[in-house]
Amino acid sequence: MEIIILPDAAAASKAAAQILLDLVTHKPDAVLGLATGGTPLALYSELIAAHKDHAFDFSRVTTFNLDEYIGLPEEHPQSYHAFMHENLFRHINIQPARIHIPDGNAADIKAHCIAYEQAIRDAGGVDLQLLGIGSDGHIGFNEPTSSFGSRTRTKTLTRQTIKDNARFFEDDPALVPKHCITMGIATILEARCALLLAFGKGKADAIAATVEGPLSAMIPASALQLHPNAKIIIDQDAAAKLTFADYYQWAYANKPE
Ligand code: GLP
Repeated sequence: MEIIILPDAAAASKAAAQILLDLVTHKPDAVLGLATGGTPLALYSELIAAHKDHAFDFSRVTTFNLDEYIGLPEEHPQSYHAFMHENLFRHINIQPARIHIPDGNAADIKAHCIAYEQAIRDAGGVDLQLLGIGSDGHIGFNEPTSSFGSRTRTKTLTRQTIKDNARFFEDDPALVPKHCITMGIATILEARCALLLAFGKGKADAIAATVEGPLSAMIPASALQLHPNAKIIIDQDAAAKLTFADYYQWAYANKPE
């Protein structure tokens, strides 16, 4: 794991956006795994700015989103379809046919999950998977006790996640769907690079457990310790509980060319 601690969320989002833009510059047909939530918003703004200000080309990029709620109409403002369209896709020149988001309204969800895994394989696998983290250590919607061998499937959200996400649903937990489709942890681990972002004090415990705690299904993000190319880009607040923070900063400052 490479732990990159930057002064604030803006600097961290810029650094993460640069990694993604460098990848697409070198591999214009890159396959990107994308995430939702508040965390990647500033990164998406950087991508939009790259497209608007420097005509950065996303026309050959393919995307796979991590997850989607079950039963929310796609046009619901809090569906992840709507989120991605509103916060990224409609502002860049990505081809609609290259966008993949799990369909939470599929008639046969089990078959859809199997097809989603196959579509990732058919695209050649994910080059870079962007991740946020839940306050309980979840990635995608892989809640605590998710198997490290899990694949795209349905999950039931924890009450904590429902509470955390209620802010997007008029602050009413009763409006948050209880079920979702999410890429599994094994699916995520297959990405050639995993890039996890976390900002703010509310993520400090989850980050400490992910980076320095034992591998545990109770902290799904700790599975990233098994990933040969995982980068954790965080702000000072999210880094607050890391015992080895000094070392990570020293290592980053002295990174070989
Ligand atoms: C949701 C998403 C995750 C995201 C997490 C954190 O549950 N399914 O992919 O990482 O929330 O969200 P936020 O970035 O808003 O803190």
